[in-house]
Amino acid sequence: MRSYENLTKTSENRLPQRAYYIPGGRSQYNLLNGDWKFAYFKRDIDVPEKICEWDTIKVPSCWQILGYENPNYTNINYPYPCDPPFVPDDNPCGVYEREFDVKEKWGRFYFVLEGVSSCAYVYVNDNYVGFTQGSHLQAEFDITDFVTAGKNTIRVKVLKWCCGSYLEDQDCFRFNGIFRDCYILQRPEGHIVDAVVNAKDNKVTVKLTANADVSLYDAEGKLLGEVKDTANAEIAVENPILWNAEKPYLYTVKIERDGEEIKINTAFRTIAISDKSELLINGVPVKLLGVNHHDTSKYNGWCQTNEELRYDLELMKKLNINCVRTSHYPPTPAFLDMCDEMGFYVVLETDIETHGFIRRYAAVDYAYDVESGEWPCAQAEWREEFVERMKRAVLRDRNHQSIIMWSTGNESGHGENHMAMIDWVRTLEDDDRLVHCEDATRKGEWDHADVYSWMYPAFDQIENYAKDENMKLPYFMCEYSHAMGNGPGDVWDYSEIVNSSPKLIGGCVWEWADHVALDEKGVQKYGGDFEGELTYDNNFCCDGMVFADRTLKSGSLEVAAAYQPMFTELCGNTLKVTNRYDFTNLSEREFTYTVECDGEEVVRETLALSVAPHATEEIALNIPADLVSRYGAFVNCTLSDGDNIFARTQHEIPAAPKAIQKADQKADFAEEGTDIIITGEGFRYVFSKHYGAFESIVTDGVERLCDKPVITAWRAVTDNDARMKERWGFYDIWQGENLDRSFSKVYDCTLEDGVITVNGAISGVSHAPFFKYTMKISVFADGRIENSLEGKIRDNVVWLPRLGFELTLPEDSSEFKYFGCGPYESYCDMHHASYIGMFESDAQKEYVNYVRPQEHGNHWNTKMLSIGGLVFEGEGFEFNVSKYSTAAIHKANHTDELVADGKTHVRIDYKVSGIGSASCGPNLKEEYQLAEKDINFSFIVRPEK
Ligand code: GAL
Ligand code: MG
Repeated sequence: MRSYENLTKTSENRLPQRAYYIPGGRSQYNLLNGDWKFAYFKRDIDVPEKICEWDTIKVPSCWQILGYENPNYTNINYPYPCDPPFVPDDNPCGVYEREFDVKEKWGRFYFVLEGVSSCAYVYVNDNYVGFTQGSHLQAEFDITDFVTAGKNTIRVKVLKWCCGSYLEDQDCFRFNGIFRDCYILQRPEGHIVDAVVNAKDNKVTVKLTANADVSLYDAEGKLLGEVKDTANAEIAVENPILWNAEKPYLYTVKIERDGEEIKINTAFRTIAISDKSELLINGVPVKLLGVNHHDTSKYNGWCQTNEELRYDLELMKKLNINCVRTSHYPPTPAFLDMCDEMGFYVVLETDIETHGFIRRYAAVDYAYDVESGEWPCAQAEWREEFVERMKRAVLRDRNHQSIIMWSTGNESGHGENHMAMIDWVRTLEDDDRLVHCEDATRKGEWDHADVYSWMYPAFDQIENYAKDENMKLPYFMCEYSHAMGNGPGDVWDYSEIVNSSPKLIGGCVWEWADHVALDEKGVQKYGGDFEGELTYDNNFCCDGMVFADRTLKSGSLEVAAAYQPMFTELCGNTLKVTNRYDFTNLSEREFTYTVECDGEEVVRETLALSVAPHATEEIALNIPADLVSRYGAFVNCTLSDGDNIFARTQHEIPAAPKAIQKADQKADFAEEGTDIIITGEGFRYVFSKHYGAFESIVTDGVERLCDKPVITAWRAVTDNDARMKERWGFYDIWQGENLDRSFSKVYDCTLEDGVITVNGAISGVSHAPFFKYTMKISVFADGRIENSLEGKIRDNVVWLPRLGFELTLPEDSSEFKYFGCGPYESYCDMHHASYIGMFESDAQKEYVNYVRPQEHGNHWNTKMLSIGGLVFEGEGFEFNVSKYSTAAIHKANHTDELVADGKTHVRIDYKVSGIGSASCGPNLKEEYQLAEKDINFSFIVRPEK
């Protein structure tokens, strides 16, 4: 057994965990980020030894990103044999070295690593200092005895794997190196080691490991009290201002001893569970509107700078997120400072996941077979390491009042070792955080934790839980609404259920951002794209609700809509406004409403509202009585801070129909062979009786079509569609129908009294028709084409991805205008961030840059589309405009493989199935599946005037 495979000795000389702080005053903080010398070896080498050839590496970094080894993305499978505690004999190794200066030797010196994967041996001036494991946990070493005044050399040998790697099987690229800050602290002898700060019952308490002067300040910097020379300070605060995620308010404790100064922020807030099983923050029932946050950068793997982390949190604020689960390890400490300061409820998870154990036997299916006793959580020799990982997280972070739950880790089975972790947490004095352990719930031992937690629940699972009076714990969905690719489409429905029951306290969308690794050309790549990946999980890592560069997609806005703080109901001219903030009166936001008729604004007013948190008020709107509209009239409400829109609601209002001039008499029809030539003023159409479709549409002397329209049912599968194949078999059934290779058959086509009737069918190759229809087409003297499609879907076909017409128009017909659900892509389930109005766009703008190209750009509930000289009108059809054909999008696996064919592709659809989140969540709800058997679709096409 090698030293890094020894489960009973996972560290050497690492100091006991203390609270995180950076001491100031006369203490020195020497951040060692920057260039280090670096030598990479394919297998472990003995150090110290002469290394003659050094590269230069930036710290913090992940060595795979910098070209030492290729990236490897694996979700569940361990990237090496599952043979704990052993790891492969060829265990790659990176040696880091740099110098640091000591101006004057006094006091004590410490070397701190905030994150190193997977383990590190530390040397100072060729002396061995110590060893550590636990990638996302802090490691501190006392290096005083090895440091000299002047130049010193520090060397860190990092191994790719160690026994701790078995506990770090998180679903992400597996990176290595010193990936977080590392620094040296020089501090006076006898300094404070640990400081535990709490704020409760009108006082702040500070417990120290040595005496010091302690003072307390409010957020404005006003001194509130001080105690000299104490290890146990209590400072009273009269009427403390409470902290919550909406209005974070921090007090600062200053600890001074021997010229050293330590500042620690604290906050007053309480956590409790009501007798209705609500989560109470400061006595107020709060829903957790959360997201899971992994540290992931588009360019730098696991390394996110503090600026980038702050940007993430700022963006979350704009998207109405109030809770972050640090999946599945503690974040860099600065992240928690930001959560305290900006206001987020944090579920702090420690660095444990052993998911790969479910794959240790090839023949055994996915199962949490914890009863076997083979999982680390159930084995005594791992106990100490489990408990230590919990302690290291809690003892580092417990001064952060933003943390409301401690989480024992993720997907690790449930056993004695978890219980030992939980038991230890429960012994902590003055700690009111709840304990989260999804694994306990899964095993049926939910009472081991303080919240019931089951990831990706089906809708009826949470509804039934809410109704079950025997279940007393609040239900926290630690992961739900899998945001992979185009999605998530179901977060709104989850929120509706959560809001309907006190026991459901909310949850965290999986997950914040896509994980990618870039190739030399800057193309976003994922698992399986890199040579040498022995096991990988494709693009399952591209499941963020924002893209890797933090730009937004429709799914990001859908989450924001589901989490929005204002809901409205309209009754006549009275608007009922409900404030869903927990601590903010709507008077602190700007409320604006408009009345729009066919997309034209006729009223706009900004009102001063006063609606208390959780309250509903009625306000009178000024809605004109005499509205006349062609497509519809709406009241649109927004809630903003003048900059960001936090909520948007819309209500359709009655309007008299606008009189439309249209020709009643038919166009001129002439039959020429199998063609029907249809003419009138300013137009000439050719309809093919052979194909049952228009072959040419010329208006104003311009040919509008590139090709004849075809009826199809396929869409470029979304990640949610695609994963159904593995999980539910449905994509198989689509594939089985060969909808992507369909044939159009015309049985007969006749012209009678200016009406063309087509009897036809659509079939996938090798199969019986899945759709048989009768289409009737009338053309009038003004060029108007009335199109009605009536038909039946074969009984034994499952639901369809979509059904409608695909047309190709010339490339320069790419600009369009529509009255429908926009401006973002919208689907029957994922449309709550969009609204109905008149919008302009073009094919290029409609493109959504999903890491793996897939269906995108749909517009639901449309009444009018004007494109390429033609106007399509109907009652709530769906449409899509793209530079790319469905086939091209479906075929491409990366964005650089997507080829445009110089045409504008237009879909006019009867219906498009919803998006859901079945890539990991439940199957798409039936109401969003296009499962109807009787199809009745009519719309008109007319020349644009
Ligand atoms: C969960 C897991 C996450 C992630 C997700 C799928 O099972 O906890 O880490 O793998 O599924 O994206
Ligand atoms: Mg996992």
